[in-house]
Amino acid sequence: MVSPLPFAQADADPSFAEMLAARPHLSLHALDGLTVEEVPLARIAAAAGTPTWVYSAGALRRRARALQAALAGAGLRASVHYAVKANGNLAVLRVLAAEGFGADVVSEGELRLARAAGIPASAIVFSGVGKTERELRLALAEDIVQINIESAEEAAMLSAVAASLGRVARVGLRVNPDVDAQTHAKITTGRSENKFGVAFEDAPALYARLAELPGLRPVGIAMHIGSQITSGMAAYRAAYARMAEMAQALMARGLPVEHLDCGGGLGIPYRDEPAPSPEALAGAIAATLGPLGLPVMLEPGRWIAGPPGLLLSSVVLQKQGAGRRFLVLDAGMNDLVRPTMYDAWHGILPVAPADCTAALSPADVVGPVCETGDTFARGRALPSLQPGALVAFLDAGAYGAVMSSTYNARPLAAEVLVDGARFAVVRERQGFEAMLAGQQTPDWLAGGGAP
Ligand code: LLP
Repeated sequence: MVSPLPFAQADADPSFAEMLAARPHLSLHALDGLTVEEVPLARIAAAAGTPTWVYSAGALRRRARALQAALAGAGLRASVHYAVKANGNLAVLRVLAAEGFGADVVSEGELRLARAAGIPASAIVFSGVGKTERELRLALAEDIVQINIESAEEAAMLSAVAASLGRVARVGLRVNPDVDAQTHAKITTGRSENKFGVAFEDAPALYARLAELPGLRPVGIAMHIGSQITSGMAAYRAAYARMAEMAQALMARGLPVEHLDCGGGLGIPYRDEPAPSPEALAGAIAATLGPLGLPVMLEPGRWIAGPPGLLLSSVVLQKQGAGRRFLVLDAGMNDLVRPTMYDAWHGILPVAPADCTAALSPADVVGPVCETGDTFARGRALPSLQPGALVAFLDAGAYGAVMSSTYNARPLAAEVLVDGARFAVVRERQGFEAMLAGQQTPDWLAGGGAP
């Protein structure tokens, strides 16, 4: 008998049903349509408007626990320092803090956010290739658990700041293992040509020097080889094997190594990528670093916060171009920049029940911003959608809201947290006044006249 269904094409996008099945916090209801936990997205749109970011607290908790269980299951003594850059919303941070997560921060702003969310300084790591003196001073004043330095120049700067404050900084040395994480070039960090970390060859001498500089106490090595790693565990294993080798060599010289910072990077399946599991990562860490018996630190961002979030948007209009159908949305590249910036693929689901079962045809999904790059998807199989119809961009919880801008004088979108049957606006939509706050007219222009 001939199958009535076409054979699955290797490059075909996942169906709506497949996208839903892979995301347990989402479901489709006959009356209410697409629902996050127990809250229909249509209700959120009615209450908060669009575009709006929606985060599932339940999914955040589930993922936090799954990661911790994987680490414990591999017999690791591990602490998780969530990378605040992925999503720094205070409500999200509070959910993760309650799960026992610390934070990995890369700026004064992120350090303040982590503290404001109740994350103790004793669980905060400061990473980043260009920390300013002011930021280092704040980190020392807060007495955070570790500052990862990335160069001899930064070591000298931190030593001077710490000595002037009469403090001792616990320092991790970020080493560049020169390993190819096989991810997008813009988010690979562990190659020797990348700006991050100190060269593997230079690291032992610098580590020894840290122990001699006033105000510094070296406590470990850090590595972060890239983000959205979906190519399996080979790159991780290669990097951690180099880390183990270096840690052993340092300890053999009598230098203190108290723990090892394994960075972040675990990828997620946006479309159908073969994303590795936290168990696989935990296994790779245990196999390479386990024999050292040292506690390990992890800095995941995307794996924790990506899948629990979505961007809810309304159709402004559907436009028939020359041989192409355009769905023009009220969300733009200023909201979700990942497709523009990294050619990223995000699942797009209609929200109304009827729209989820209607006939599909290719559409280019675009925003209202005046750039051709403001394109979310090309030739995506979607139903005909009328003005006001809602759509959801999936897996937008990480590197979504945090990367938005007000380009085209568009206000920052609202953010909503769903928790079971409850939801709350956790960040208001930016108002026009707030968007322009800080702009001032110099006296000589205030009269409005030309000279
Ligand atoms: N630790 C360090 C030192 C990092 O630089 C990063 C991310 C992380 C941890 C967290 O990595 P994750 O687990 O999230 O992969 N905007 C890009 C991603 C940039 C990642 C930057 N560093 C995107 O939208 O794909």
